[in-house]
Amino acid sequence: MMRTLSGIQPTGNLHLGNYLGAIRNWVRMQDEMPGEKLYFLADLHAISMPHVPADLTANTRAMTAALVACGIDTDRSLLFNQARVPAHAELQWLLNGTARMGWLNRMTQWKDKAGKNREGQSVALFGYPVLQAADVLLYQTTHVPVGEDQKQHLELARDIAQKFNNDFASEDAPVFTLPEAITPPQAARIMSLRDGSKKMSKSDPSEMSRIELADDADTVMKKVKKAKTDPEPLPSEAKGLVGRPEALNLVTIYAAVTDKTVDAVLGEFGGEGFGKFKPALGELLVETLRPISTRFNELLGDREALDAILARGASHARELGRPTLDAAYTALGLVR
Ligand code: ADP
Ligand code: TRP
Repeated sequence: MMRTLSGIQPTGNLHLGNYLGAIRNWVRMQDEMPGEKLYFLADLHAISMPHVPADLTANTRAMTAALVACGIDTDRSLLFNQARVPAHAELQWLLNGTARMGWLNRMTQWKDKAGKNREGQSVALFGYPVLQAADVLLYQTTHVPVGEDQKQHLELARDIAQKFNNDFASEDAPVFTLPEAITPPQAARIMSLRDGSKKMSKSDPSEMSRIELADDADTVMKKVKKAKTDPEPLPSEAKGLVGRPEALNLVTIYAAVTDKTVDAVLGEFGGEGFGKFKPALGELLVETLRPISTRFNELLGDREALDAILARGASHARELGRPTLDAAYTALGLVR
């Protein structure tokens, strides 16, 4: 039996990188992957860093609106937020007995985020990957679509599951399924519009560096036209873009949106300058994002509908997770 699950932190607005690198694949998987699909907002993960409570609430609703606007269909997929499914936090605690300090100390995300100030970080930031393991293991998940940066956390989830099964379950009745990380081949890595060596990110201080799904047509056009480029015309093959990261990024975006290869796009635009390519890319993005931002803005105003979506997804998720949570308590000898 296949079960696909993925999560995203509800911090700030979705941008084109999130859409082309993650969300669009979630939407496609609804058709392409058999079995259940579970998508959730990792709001519990969001408290591992300093945060403003009212912003977290607003961002959770906004991200829900964005996911639905992008095509997550709540009749075919479960969509919920972690905080409404207490089993995530419960299972994390149960797994804390199995996860090793040494394993967590090796996580590159922990090292990057903590930097030189490990002592000053929250315990939640250190334990973040254990909660992520709980997210996945709670549902006997088989497939987890994630970006490269999350693969290490998935490996850790497998290690925790394996050790727990070894220590507390018999071989013919393991408590947890070992999940597999999948990085879809179409998952494009989109770079900043201001600097082709940095990824497009919501934490970039410059709004001009990213296109947000909520941007209106004029804003999208302006950001594309002001994107950093070089004075050369476009080459007619991908190898001509070596050493031209900004040019490569714009062509990559065009290719991702149209589902073409970079070579195919260059076959069309090779020899042209950016004076011609940028308006074409801008138009394409405006047309692609128009239905998404229209739907997003409609939904954003309907708080009740958004809360109802999350509540329904959570109620279904609580049911799906219950047998595994029960089995974990029992395996550990906990009496309830
Ligand atoms: P951000 O860098 O904006 O904070 P996150 O790290 O929260 O984004 O990532 C959320 C999801 O979007 C992850 O699945 C990640 O792999 C994907 N993602 C984020 N930025 C990009 C990008 N520039 N290109 C492709 N995918 C991205
Ligand atoms: N840590 C992931 C990220 O930052 C989000 C996440 C939380 C997740 N729990 C998960 C992704 C479980 C996949 C499976 O992108």
